[in-house]
Amino acid sequence: MEPERAQRFSFAGKAGATPLRIARSDGVWLYTDEGQQILDASGGAIVVNIGHGRREVAEAYAREAERVAYALPPFATESRVRLVEHLIDAWLPRGLTRVGFTSGGSESVDAALRITRAHFHCKGEPERWKVIGRDLSYHGTTLATLAVGGHTKRRAGFEPWLADLPKAPACYCYRCPLGKSLPECRTACVDEIEAEILRADPRTVAAVIAEPIGGSTAGALLPPDDYWPRLREICTRHGVLLIADEVMTGFGRTGKRFAVDHWGVTPDILIGGKGLTGGYAPMGGIFASEAVVAPIVERGLEVMFFTYSAHPASCAAAHKVLEILEREQLVERAALQGEKLGKRLGRLLAHPNVGDVRGRGLLWGVELVADKATRAPFPAATGLTAKVVAAGIAHGVFVYPGGVDPARDVITFGPPFTISDHELELAVDRFARALDSALERARR
Ligand SMILES: Cc1ncc(COP(=O)(O)O)c(C=O)c1O
Repeated sequence: MEPERAQRFSFAGKAGATPLRIARSDGVWLYTDEGQQILDASGGAIVVNIGHGRREVAEAYAREAERVAYALPPFATESRVRLVEHLIDAWLPRGLTRVGFTSGGSESVDAALRITRAHFHCKGEPERWKVIGRDLSYHGTTLATLAVGGHTKRRAGFEPWLADLPKAPACYCYRCPLGKSLPECRTACVDEIEAEILRADPRTVAAVIAEPIGGSTAGALLPPDDYWPRLREICTRHGVLLIADEVMTGFGRTGKRFAVDHWGVTPDILIGGKGLTGGYAPMGGIFASEAVVAPIVERGLEVMFFTYSAHPASCAAAHKVLEILEREQLVERAALQGEKLGKRLGRLLAHPNVGDVRGRGLLWGVELVADKATRAPFPAATGLTAKVVAAGIAHGVFVYPGGVDPARDVITFGPPFTISDHELELAVDRFARALDSALERARR
């Protein structure tokens, strides 16, 4: 593919910049059309949980596409019913037995917000509409999902269209927004969510939405162990729904089926995406309890679908992906390889500009700083993250850029669960070299 052709069809990004031209992918590897081999240390946008190049998933997709090209989402297809049963029987936290599908993460969060509102409306509590989110979070890029999210960069410019919804501080221990530290803080950041509910007037609050472990916004923000159990208790006490956004963390990414499983918490609504099909088909899912859906069903209210909701071939692909995760025990492998990745990345803490390394399973964030003693970030104008990612590609590794002030420069790792020990070593070595070369460029 000629660079000019690749350039012409992009409506985003720097004028004249040529996108990376990927010809094929296999395992943890991306191959450009110029023959360069790049280790995909973030599985794209932390998506490709089972690795690239799985023929059996492509075949399952093709078979179903041939059998049923498309069915209206309210209709049932064999591939959808089989997937729903599979999810309820073997994957979802107990109690989540209502399943809906969309084409991706943002659509799923958006649908979950509408289901939340419909729930309270049908239950006779129409005054409950506020959804409390957190700073340094991401829940998608539709207008409703941007509104509940705390990703200031992605919200920028769209504010006039975004509902003004309350936000609680993130659990960001490296730079605690409350100026405290563990364990003396007693996880005060979760109390801040309750304070926000009280400030907003609990009778008007419908839900709290949070990522169990933060994604790439601030780089795998890991909560203290009592955070989610306490959040569950707070929401229950105030009659507020708890929505766990597991678009990035779900389907094994953090070493458990879902990240909430680390703490034995069942949310009222759980949202999945990415890993559900591992990148082989565009799909997201909304998983809710009977109690959430019952009032809506009783009132006979239809929650509008998206045209591609529960697309038959996507359902077939997802079912095959789950089978592979089980057959190859890949969730357990994510936990195992994740520990090794965490150890290797942990060694980078000796580097003068690596401020923090955090994560769980195969989701890790590396925060870069100009001064480790003060934790001061590099000037925004340095654009360090973008330089590191570009240098990574030049060194043969792709790492995912993130970072929103005050977590300005953050790199996220989220490789396929199939990654070997040798590939892990390569990923971290190449990243370390890329970091040095980016720093050298930044100083020029
Ligand atoms: C936690 C979370 N929610 C929602 C989304 C949005 O998903 P999508 O990009 O598939 O619309 C993402 C994407 O990164 C995410 O990480």
